[in-house]
Amino acid sequence: MKRERWNSKFGFLLAAIGSAVGLGNIWRFPYTAAENGGGAFLVPYFFAILTAGIPILILEYTMGKTYRAGAPVTWARINRKFEWLGWFQVMVAFIITVYYLAIVVWVISYIGFSFNQAWGSDPTSFFLGYLGITDSALNLGGIQSNLILPFLIIWVITAIIMYRGISKGIELACKIALPLLLVLTAILVVRGITLPGAVDGLNYLFTPNWDRIFDSQIWVAAYGQVFFSLSIAFAIMIAYSSYLPKETDVVNSAIITATANHGFELFAGIGVFSVLGYMAYSQGVPVDEVAAGGVGLAFMVFPAAINTLPALNTLIGICFFGTLFFAGVTSLISIIQAVISGIADKFELAHTKATTIVLVPAFVISILFITGAGLNILDIVDAFINNVGVAGAGLIEVILIGWFFKPEILRQEANQFSNFSVGRWWIYSLKFITVIVLGFMVISNTISFIKDGYGGYASSDIAVFGWGALLFGVVVAIILTAMKGKEGYADLSKHKEVE
Ligand code: ALA
Repeated sequence: MKRERWNSKFGFLLAAIGSAVGLGNIWRFPYTAAENGGGAFLVPYFFAILTAGIPILILEYTMGKTYRAGAPVTWARINRKFEWLGWFQVMVAFIITVYYLAIVVWVISYIGFSFNQAWGSDPTSFFLGYLGITDSALNLGGIQSNLILPFLIIWVITAIIMYRGISKGIELACKIALPLLLVLTAILVVRGITLPGAVDGLNYLFTPNWDRIFDSQIWVAAYGQVFFSLSIAFAIMIAYSSYLPKETDVVNSAIITATANHGFELFAGIGVFSVLGYMAYSQGVPVDEVAAGGVGLAFMVFPAAINTLPALNTLIGICFFGTLFFAGVTSLISIIQAVISGIADKFELAHTKATTIVLVPAFVISILFITGAGLNILDIVDAFINNVGVAGAGLIEVILIGWFFKPEILRQEANQFSNFSVGRWWIYSLKFITVIVLGFMVISNTISFIKDGYGGYASSDIAVFGWGALLFGVVVAIILTAMKGKEGYADLSKHKEVE
């Protein structure tokens, strides 16, 4: 079967940047930075980008374009014994898909609410009421009828893009969404930085707090943020680069993607923190008091900040939730494509069939997130899947490549068509620095989850949605590894016709 291709390298870059720039940049980055000491967070954050983010992105682009398959088959082509890791990464992507989509559901509603600031004077109570939130993750409380319409809207958009495929679906969607995203963010930033008090918000974000630099927690958080934000270690970038010609300059592409992603993250952060700075100024409280909103920052704190604006409240609301929408959709489709490529390549299925096999169960499971337990389930699943699932998958990835394979082969492969060659530092970063930091991160997160649970949730909630989600990923990954694929799928030489 002839493998799909991106229309152009530019199209691929747009799709990769569309994948990287997501809710992680606008929703997760500000609250993660705020919870981890504001400016103090930026030091480990840049360290993580240079020692893990860019090296792993180069690695994944090289793997994808060299072995030309989604993550499981790429791993199988490197070594048959590694295929399970690809499936685990695919399962992590599948699980992220279902809750990521739920956040976009809320975003769609909030674009509507922005027109008249429907959240009123108490956005926190409004948000919890709008979700029909129950008292525990196991108390589903039924499907919330007000979430059904935005849920169907995002599913229809997603299905249309996915069925249209790589170049006519994903590439086109990113070509439309990214410019809009940039315009909306620019409006937000210009409005934000011209508000009184903005500078306090920016100082909070950018002033390094050296006292906390030795706090391991901020290092762990920085690595977690960089992985999520760059879409690495959960099958996406391997899948995306598998639709590239072998002659692609992957080093250059990785640097462009990372620069665009983190540049955008800081740019959006400037917009968000300026508005929070203004809010703190107008209420006469310190910035850290208003910024400490956790996962609710976007839906509770930001609407409250919009309420305090002197003018243009509606415009700023639409810009903010509009950016979340466009950024969210272009990432969501990449997470789903990681799963579709995994299935299609091992079993050599036609695109439509593979898409249906992925979308139907994802649709059914995602219904959980429009019940009254949605936010609580999401909070638990997100914590476990990111801090243990993504980080663990990344750790095993660098160990297998660094210690059980010859990374030098991949270094040469990466350099073959690249203007800027990667030196041996690349191998050392992966083999040592990344392994040590990620190893520490995975072990300390796991111990803390075992000892203290998470977020004050009941242990039954944690067992089902935290450990249960991970176990579900592992079990399905084992089954998919054991299933018989299309004859010769792991043999790259049988797939030369795509050249
Ligand atoms: N990279 C995507 C994000 O930042 C998943 O949201």
